[in-house]
Amino acid sequence: MATKGATLAPQRVRVGPGRGAACPPPGCMSYTLTTPLYYVNDRAHLGSAYTTLACDTIARFQRLKGEQVVFITGCDEHGQKIQRTAEAAGLTPQAHCDAVSEGYRALWDRWQISHDRFIRTTDPRHRQLVEQFFARVEANGDVVEGRQQGWYCVACEEFKDDAPGSQDPECAIHRKPLEWRDEVNLFFRLSRYQSEIEALIRRPGFIAPASRQKEVENFVAQGLRDFSISRVDLPWGIPVPGHGGHTFYVWFDALLGYLSALLPAEDPVDLDLIRQRGWPAQLHVIGKDILRFHAVYWPAMLLSAGLPLPERVFGHGFLTREGQKMGKSLGNVLDPEQLLERCGRDAVRWYLLRDIPFGDDGDFQQQRFIDLVNNDLANTIGNLLNRTSSMARRWFADAVPPAGPASQPDHPLAVAALGAGQAVSGALEALDFRTAAEAALQLAISANGFLNDQAPWKRMKQEGEEAQVAADLYAVLEATRWVAVLLAPLVPDLSERMLIQLGQQPFVSSHSSGVPSAWLDAQHWGGLLPGLPLIEPQPVMQRLELEAPL
Ligand code: MSP
Repeated sequence: MATKGATLAPQRVRVGPGRGAACPPPGCMSYTLTTPLYYVNDRAHLGSAYTTLACDTIARFQRLKGEQVVFITGCDEHGQKIQRTAEAAGLTPQAHCDAVSEGYRALWDRWQISHDRFIRTTDPRHRQLVEQFFARVEANGDVVEGRQQGWYCVACEEFKDDAPGSQDPECAIHRKPLEWRDEVNLFFRLSRYQSEIEALIRRPGFIAPASRQKEVENFVAQGLRDFSISRVDLPWGIPVPGHGGHTFYVWFDALLGYLSALLPAEDPVDLDLIRQRGWPAQLHVIGKDILRFHAVYWPAMLLSAGLPLPERVFGHGFLTREGQKMGKSLGNVLDPEQLLERCGRDAVRWYLLRDIPFGDDGDFQQQRFIDLVNNDLANTIGNLLNRTSSMARRWFADAVPPAGPASQPDHPLAVAALGAGQAVSGALEALDFRTAAEAALQLAISANGFLNDQAPWKRMKQEGEEAQVAADLYAVLEATRWVAVLLAPLVPDLSERMLIQLGQQPFVSSHSSGVPSAWLDAQHWGGLLPGLPLIEPQPVMQRLELEAPL
């Protein structure tokens, strides 16, 4: 089979200059990651915010390590679902898409999402790229005409192979009636890629978490069937060149948004350029419902076009609320806008990242949310900084006390800090946010325990104990600095407030700075300089008090 020099091997590439991305120093590798491109049939909900916050954490972590990150998000704006939504609202599809995608953009701004690119599939440059990509696939003999018959879910924009034989089948995800379709379409010859896709999905790490690999393997083992990539009588889509009356199937168009996002306005629209602009992606983060599109259809399309494949596809779980699926009909949808307004960025990020194992389904529980935020952030971490800093100021002239023996790397808190640093980096590399958050929190718990054991408030009353009190307070302040450092990718605002209180420079994680990692440098014991002035402490984390349910 001719696959035009396509490769299965992951590669890291050098990124060239582009909008929002400084030219990286020679030898600097890029880290490209993506959220799904969200449908604009409705405003963002907590599910989309969840994926985006998780990706933001990964992007910040990679930047803090010194990587040149290209973090892509955006909106998927074509297809029947969008067309119908716009019609129902009495708007043209374009006006509808403009309004909703602007809402996404504004929401991500308020959440301080650090994306480098925001792609809209209605961008004319995207259309050009889709045309180029299709020309490659067609030239490779992978486009054929065929008849598509089957049950279709408009909400999923997907044919359902497993629709029951009944008269009125429903979509198992949306609980909406499926629609019968019978039309002549263009098909992509997915069946030609059976062996490559089998090899790809068996590659360790390509599908993550590993628990999701089996379901894709089972699907592929049934034999890959060609899938239709065009629709007739669907005006709200990109016309297929050379095939009058056909528009591209929304998924064929949307997946290519990951590529068009890599070409900023000053670049020509040229598929050959994308390798210099950050392709292949290191990571696609998606919900488990769209894993098949990303782990099977998308790689086959790329193989056909002679382009390298993404390194990893991570399918996370679904969020429910107090044990129930979130839905408008149940009236229990959590609006990310309101959540932000009432609870703040740190609280929501901390709860979602710390409490829900990334990859599994998770349940949003209001009381647990409040308890974790108050116990972990306000009490354990916030009070630790506040009380230690107050004691140091009171007894050591408003400054960091002399370290004495606490500067030694075998100090118990030095050992704990080093271990926490390694645990946080290892866990974030594996996208295990929960373990990372727990490791940072555990360091604060150890520091609190040490402080209680040493009880400097008692020692200070004893003759000749001042040097020991200084060393103990130094050790706890230094451990607290480490906590702030380790929290930087997870809860950047809280990390910043803590660092400022400790007289430290906060980290830049919202864009790639192109300089060697200050964050990694900060992870050495003794970074806090004795004698450094300490400002009057302010609570770094407000307690969450919610009078009414969210
Ligand atoms: N437009 C496609 C993606 C195209 S990517 C080239 C799409 N959009 S979506 O807006 O419907 O969904 C985007 C993501 O949000 C999906 O991965 C979906 O799994 C996720 N979520 C939707 N509801 C969710 C929850 N309740 N919880 C967590 N994520 C969920 O699919």
